[in-house]
Amino acid sequence: MKSKIIELLTAHVEGLTAEEINTLIEIPPKPELGDFAFPCFRLAKTMRKAPQMIAADIKDALGDVDFLEKIDVQGAYLNFYINKSIYVKTMLDTALCPGYGNSDIGEGQTICIDYSSPNVAKNFHVGHLRTTIIGNSLYKIFSKLGYHVERINHLGDWGTQFGKLIVAYKTWGSKKAVEKDGIAELMKLYVKFHAEAEKDDSLNDDARAWFAKMEQGDEEALSIWQWFKDISLVEYKRTYALLGMEFDHYTGESFYRDKTQAVIDILKEKNLLTESEGANIVDLEAYDMAPCLITKKDGSSIYATRDLAAIYYRKNTYHFSKCLYVTGQEQKLHFAQVFKVIELIGNDWAKDQLVHIPYGLVSLEGAKLSSRNGNIIYAEEILTDAIAKIREIIEQKNPDLPDKDEVAKKVGIGAILFHDLYNQRIKDVSFRWDKVLNFDGETGPYVQYTYVRCASILRSLPDFKPDTDIDYSLITDSASMELLKELVRFPEVILAAAEKYEPSMVARYTIAVAQAFNKFYNDNRINVEDASLRTARVTLVYITGRILRDALELLGIECPEQM
Ligand code: ARG
Repeated sequence: MKSKIIELLTAHVEGLTAEEINTLIEIPPKPELGDFAFPCFRLAKTMRKAPQMIAADIKDALGDVDFLEKIDVQGAYLNFYINKSIYVKTMLDTALCPGYGNSDIGEGQTICIDYSSPNVAKNFHVGHLRTTIIGNSLYKIFSKLGYHVERINHLGDWGTQFGKLIVAYKTWGSKKAVEKDGIAELMKLYVKFHAEAEKDDSLNDDARAWFAKMEQGDEEALSIWQWFKDISLVEYKRTYALLGMEFDHYTGESFYRDKTQAVIDILKEKNLLTESEGANIVDLEAYDMAPCLITKKDGSSIYATRDLAAIYYRKNTYHFSKCLYVTGQEQKLHFAQVFKVIELIGNDWAKDQLVHIPYGLVSLEGAKLSSRNGNIIYAEEILTDAIAKIREIIEQKNPDLPDKDEVAKKVGIGAILFHDLYNQRIKDVSFRWDKVLNFDGETGPYVQYTYVRCASILRSLPDFKPDTDIDYSLITDSASMELLKELVRFPEVILAAAEKYEPSMVARYTIAVAQAFNKFYNDNRINVEDASLRTARVTLVYITGRILRDALELLGIECPEQM
């Protein structure tokens, strides 16, 4: 509507471009003053006329405009009142088009999203599930807005912990046990190492020596490490497959091991590196931060060094306009330091292109969730448990449902994802099965169920075809109006979610749509005699279903057609 007004004014006002008019147009502070206002002060200068007179002249020149109820002159302002029924029709006609909510604002721009990134030889726990789910949703949201997205899994696959693991494996491990139990066995070895190193510090020296060997390219060290990594990846990929998620790059920390020296050289050249007790640091005191450690006493690189190298690599390879990092909030300082170092080197873009996206902790309520394997909570286990629980409910309530396994998978996974995304990401999530799986609360199954209801109404009316020739003025009751209001918000919700990196906005929107729809459905018969009214109502059902399906898709959740 705003662009239509801009178009009108551009045609009738001399001396201002469409862009200038765009910046001048205001939203009036009170609804009584209309939906948009155009101030004439600026024209008064160039036209040497009182702004009130100019406003009146423009109003006369515009005459009657079909999409406006009226135009008023109020002092120096022209106030525009949108014709609501035409507005609704325009919006809903757009909502009917395939790809409603898509945009091209991101065209030609690349966004890197660094997410999931589990630590090799450690279990994929519920915390990593959150970064995976949030990162995947951001990928979908930005893709819908036309951005090209690179999905990067920055695996924790390098560092002194692998020296420890090699020592533990060589001292207490067996090939058979690792082959049989995978990550669980590697974790046991790791725990054993720490217990033993408490008593015998020389183990730590051995571990450092093995990591040094890895950094120097020693064949034996690298082949054991690669084996641990392969074993871990098999398990991680099983979880990704369950979630239906993929990555474009598995470039973990080890990928940057030959790229850190170049960063160290730049830091030296820029005089940013200081020696401190044998280690090399970048002093960040001027910015109220602890120093950023670059190399340890023994010369080995660390997490931060590899992140610095990764930023250079990604900038030069993908030419990102933003690089996002989805991790727990406990890494806030780490990213603040790394981003600051990049900026201090002279990369001004670091300030707005590198973005840390933190999230809160996951806690587990209720004894049922404690894992069969001790107190470690594997993400995979939660997902398969959710699927099994839904499968049971289906068996009880709807045993004749076709594709029961497929439906249980979509609903079970959907329940977990939705629960994780429903609250602002910075909030802690407390996990409770009865909340996650509730079909009536603010949950994934509730939204999916509402979608299924739309789908079933449409199946019962096979003659319906989406068409723009619809008289929405027949729709007047308040429940329908509330639903309309929600349906037209979809595009702005996606934009806002992208701007705030906040998938919860999309999740909350699906609940608002589902609730408005269920009220509408409760108050109105769909299959009425009057053909025009029936078509208008069915169209609302159709648009609702599509929006719910597409919005859930932005969260990484699939909709079954029946459940
Ligand atoms: N592996 C890290 C962890 O599990 C997360 C890595 C995040 N990405 C990064 N570029 N530092 O905590």
